[in-house]
Amino acid sequence: MQSNMENKAYILTGPTSGAGRATALSLATAGTLVLVGRNRDKLAETAGAVERLGGKAVPILCDMSDLGSVRRAADAIVALDLRLIGLLNNAGIQNPHNAATADGWDNTFVTNHLGPFAFTQALLPHLDDGACVLFVGSATEDPERKPAVRAGFRGSRYLSAAASLRGEWVPGGSSKPGMDAYATSKQCNIVTAMALARENPRLHIHAIEPGIMIATGLHAHMSASRRILASVLVPLLMPFVKVLSTPGRAARVFTRILTDASATTACYYDQDGNPMQGSTFVRDRAFQDRVVAETRALLAELDAGAR
Ligand SMILES: NC(=O)c1ccc[n+]([C@@H]2O[C@H](COP(=O)([O-])OP(=O)(O)OC[C@H]3O[C@@H](n4cnc5c(N)ncnc54)[C@H](OP(=O)(O)O)[C@@H]3O)[C@@H](O)[C@H]2O)c1
Repeated sequence: MQSNMENKAYILTGPTSGAGRATALSLATAGTLVLVGRNRDKLAETAGAVERLGGKAVPILCDMSDLGSVRRAADAIVALDLRLIGLLNNAGIQNPHNAATADGWDNTFVTNHLGPFAFTQALLPHLDDGACVLFVGSATEDPERKPAVRAGFRGSRYLSAAASLRGEWVPGGSSKPGMDAYATSKQCNIVTAMALARENPRLHIHAIEPGIMIATGLHAHMSASRRILASVLVPLLMPFVKVLSTPGRAARVFTRILTDASATTACYYDQDGNPMQGSTFVRDRAFQDRVVAETRALLAELDAGAR
């Protein structure tokens, strides 16, 4: 049992807050946890919490908005020489007003899609046969999703990977461009999972909509009073409003999927871990392949430019 724990490892991105931190605690004794985050102190805090539960954690510094940092983190993980049996792509941001990276790129698109895509692509050949990769998407990608529309989202506004990098979206979207960036990046997560699952039949690759979790860092842009009100109301409303969730509940579902020994792949799960349908784009194989091909071409172009 002890040697199993030492050899087998799960990689978790975004383990310093919200659903990612709760998943680190939930998986604490399932194997070594490779905790991938941008903040050294927060990583140490989560690692300490995992170790207090009897687990083992290896912190890896990585800023998903910086492709050089992503490359170094993936190399550092491979050098650990662990049996990599799971990868949770959970790190993400949402900023209605959006911002640019140091390179002038759309911060949400790079942090949520381009960085995690490059990270996953670098690690895929090193994952154990049968390993599970889970991408945390969001139903905000779907223009027909009523709770998301009521919140101001207008679905994904994907033009191309290169346009997304520049922060350009299909016109007619949300009044806040950061919401278009978020919905688009999350759709890219889901279609990436579906395309990679078909490319890598030796792995189990899925996506999930984790439910609306108000009290996480993702909603830090909300006013303090709205956050307090939400933290009081959400537990009361949860039994009646299916799409509401909490980090603890999301962590239980993530853990179940990551440790599932059955042979399923390419499933898009809802907040309860049941299969769900995304937008028509998410279900379109040609679109899935197009996003992946465009993302790869963009990364190759950026890589060549950086050399
Ligand atoms: N909350 C919701 O209602 C909701 C709904 C649908 C989907 N989701 C998705 O669920 C996932 C988890 O979100 P959450 O609600 O748990 O949010 P959260 O509490 O803000 O957690 C996000 C995690 O991502 C990390 N992160 C952010 N930017 C990063 C970067 N540049 N490099 C590396 N790590 C970075 C954060 O690190 P720091 O601690 O350093 O900030 C944190 O650990 C996200 O992918 C989100 O899009 C959330």
